[in-house]
Amino acid sequence: MKFSKILALTMALLMVCVCFAACTADEPETVVDPEVKNDAVTPETDGEPEVEAEPEVEDNTITMATNAYFKPYEYYEGDKIVGIDAEIAEAIAAKLGKELVIEDMQFDSILTAVQTGSVDFGMAGMTVTEERKESVNFTSSYATGVQSIIVKEGSAITTVDDLYADGAAYKVGVQLGTTGDIYATDDFGADLVSQFANGNEAVMALNGDAIDCVIIDNQPALALVEANEGLVILETAYADEEYAICIAKENTELLDAMNAAIDELIADGTIDAVVAKYIK
Ligand code: ARG
Repeated sequence: MKFSKILALTMALLMVCVCFAACTADEPETVVDPEVKNDAVTPETDGEPEVEAEPEVEDNTITMATNAYFKPYEYYEGDKIVGIDAEIAEAIAAKLGKELVIEDMQFDSILTAVQTGSVDFGMAGMTVTEERKESVNFTSSYATGVQSIIVKEGSAITTVDDLYADGAAYKVGVQLGTTGDIYATDDFGADLVSQFANGNEAVMALNGDAIDCVIIDNQPALALVEANEGLVILETAYADEEYAICIAKENTELLDAMNAAIDELIADGTIDAVVAKYIK
């Protein structure tokens, strides 16, 4: 090998060593010729990962998946998610000694996020159903809900029964993946059911006469009717439901801890107080 080549190689190796010692992990290493680098590094690491894993920093957060277009359970106030679920979750997290992080997503993504472990739990005015129980566990219930029907004032639909009348073919709006969606699709067929990303969009369609009614949980229904003139809620309800928190099947430790926290928060009146704050 020519002297100039040896010199060049030595220089390159030197640069590698200096850089290896000085560079931080996220600094670009573009100065290093990849081949030279590999030769220089391989003997040292002996096929093992280059950098020893840092000792894990203890993650003190607990992440909740929700869909924050569901007043008064979860909704935005500025860029903060507030509401009954947000506050109860905060109280539960405090009992577990964790810092709560809330992730807003489509309602029909929550179960998957919980199942795959990308979040710790789901809380979204979510109704306990047998079908959902096949994929997740539910805590004990912390609230109840009722599926209600919103129509325009003066609508031909005056009771739930009108939807089932002979020859009736009313167009129903729902939030995608909710129990309202599931029940309505079962009862009236997919052709008559329009699925929206949230209750607000369904109500906009009702306002524009694209649909004849909206089936949604009673408290969000009240909030929507309050915010939109000319709408009413039918007095006859559609279905009674229990709300609970969902957790991945294998995470029974969290299920037990959350159930214990919920029991305490029911017993000391915290949950009642939170509900009373949002539902007059
Ligand atoms: N209770 C209904 C269900 O579980 C609707 C819940 C919708 N929640 C929401 N945050 N958008 O299917």
